[in-house]
Amino acid sequence: MATHPAPDRSTGPGRSGDPDRTTTSTVTLRVNGVPRRLTLDNRTTVLDALREHLDLTGAKKGCDHGQCGACTVLVDGRRTNSCLLPAVAHDGAEITTVEGLAELVGPAEGGALHPLQQAFVDRDGFQCGYCTPGQLCSAVGAISEAAAGHPSYVTSLTAGPPGPPVPLSPDEIRERMSGNLCRCGAYPNIVGAIEDVTR
Ligand code: FES
Ligand code: FES
Repeated sequence: MATHPAPDRSTGPGRSGDPDRTTTSTVTLRVNGVPRRLTLDNRTTVLDALREHLDLTGAKKGCDHGQCGACTVLVDGRRTNSCLLPAVAHDGAEITTVEGLAELVGPAEGGALHPLQQAFVDRDGFQCGYCTPGQLCSAVGAISEAAAGHPSYVTSLTAGPPGPPVPLSPDEIRERMSGNLCRCGAYPNIVGAIEDVTR
C-alpha cells in the first residue's frame, strides 16, 4: 500500500511551532482613557479582561450569559454586556467602566462622583449594590441614546426614527433599563435617580 508523508503543520498562519500563538492574541484596550496592552487567551471576554487582568472589579459577573446587565460597560460610547464580548475582537476600543464614569464629565479629583452616581446615593438607588455599576453605565448609555433620538419600544414613532431627543419619562426609563436586573428590587429609586439627572 502506498504511504504518504504526514503534512507539515508546523508553519502557516498561527502555526509557528509556538502553541501559544494559536491560542492567544495581544490587544490594546483603552480603558477609562488609559491604553492597556494585554496578551489574552482568545476566549477571554472584555469582562474577564477587566476583572481578572486589570483588577477593575466594578463591572460584575452575574449570569455570564448576557441576561442580567451586571457587566454593562460603555464600549466606544455605547452600553454593552461585556460578558458577551471577545476582548481580542475589540483591539483599540474605548472602554468606560464604573471606575471611569466620573471622568466622563471632567477631571474627577477628590473622589468626585458622576451626577448619576450622586443621584443613586441621594435616592438610595441600591441595596446590596451588586447590580449598581451595570445600572450606572447602562443609564449613561440610555440617556445618550434618548438624547440622540433613538426610540425605545414605548416611544411614539409618529415622527419616525431617528427623531428629536426623546424625553425620559418613567415609562421610557423603565423600558430602556429593562436589560439591567436588580435582585434587591431597587427599581423605583433607580428610576427616580435617572429622572433626577434628566430633568
Ligand atoms: S454578567 Fe453579563 S449580562 Fe449578566
Ligand atoms: S442593589 Fe442588589 S441587586 Fe440591585
